[in-house]
Amino acid sequence: MNQKISFIGAGKMVSAIVKSLLRSNAFQANEISCCSANDGTSEALSKETGITRHENITALLAAKPDLLVLGCKPQQISELPAETSESSNGMLILSIMAGITLSRLNNTFPVARNIVRSMPNTPGQIGSGITGYLFANQPSDTDREMIHKVLSSLGVVKLVKEEIDIDRVTAISGSGPAYIFEFTCAMEEAGIKLGLTPDLAKDLAIHTVIGAAKLMKKSTFHPEELRNQVTSPNGTTQAALESFTNDQLREIVANATQAALDRSIELSNA
Ligand SMILES: NC(=O)c1ccc[n+]([C@@H]2O[C@H](COP(=O)([O-])OP(=O)(O)OC[C@H]3O[C@@H](n4cnc5c(N)ncnc54)[C@H](OP(=O)(O)O)[C@@H]3O)[C@@H](O)[C@H]2O)c1
Repeated sequence: MNQKISFIGAGKMVSAIVKSLLRSNAFQANEISCCSANDGTSEALSKETGITRHENITALLAAKPDLLVLGCKPQQISELPAETSESSNGMLILSIMAGITLSRLNNTFPVARNIVRSMPNTPGQIGSGITGYLFANQPSDTDREMIHKVLSSLGVVKLVKEEIDIDRVTAISGSGPAYIFEFTCAMEEAGIKLGLTPDLAKDLAIHTVIGAAKLMKKSTFHPEELRNQVTSPNGTTQAALESFTNDQLREIVANATQAALDRSIELSNA
């Protein structure tokens, strides 16, 4: 039977997409297949979800999937077997690999029906991610819907206008979870310096970030307004925020994201 959707890779991101597609009934298990470099990962995913497992990419492509998802690591694209280009004739290709450009994908899959480059982020592993994506060519309505359905399994999706936007997405939401984790560590460390026990400082930092994130999601107010609501004149929050302003927090964030953007462009061109 021809497979509807096949995944090269069976790691964290592929597993998250597959489970979410099955949970939402977007696809049935017999319409999905995967393969991995070593048997273990794809075997485990197949056992857990009931999807088909192929021995290798050659077998996976022989099942002629309508959509081929590239879910391996970026450096692994150069290890794909030579026949991949020919065998992917007429397929829709979706890459979730960081730093692999559309031009590189076009070279690897010259006879594909269309190619999509996307940039998810790690919260996608629990369906709370945000993904920016871009088609190489104007898509048909069916292809547009298919890609939307698959990527929304990781969370929110945003179609971007030009490829440089993918590098910008990388700098904000792709690398962004790490900024929040680092900020959380800074809060934890500061709590310890103020005299809290390490356990309490960690719990306070983590749950403050989770609570604030959930409030931002639920509230109709912009984060700036939510910030103002907890900032009483001459109060404790104002004292802390003035220190942030003096230390130019926004400039620090702008510089950090520019560094991420520059590096993303550099890696894409490598
Ligand atoms: N993790 C994230 O949140 C995140 C965010 C943004 C983008 N991404 C992108 O998503 C992709 C996957 O990331 P991940 O975190 O899910 O990685 P991962 O857990 O390491 O999974 C990579 C998978 O690719 C398989 N693979 C490698 N070479 C292969 C080959 N030649 N043939 C078939 N399968 C092969 C691996 O097989 P084995 O299991 O046998 O080694 C593994 O199952 C990466 O390109 C990454 O840039 C991930």
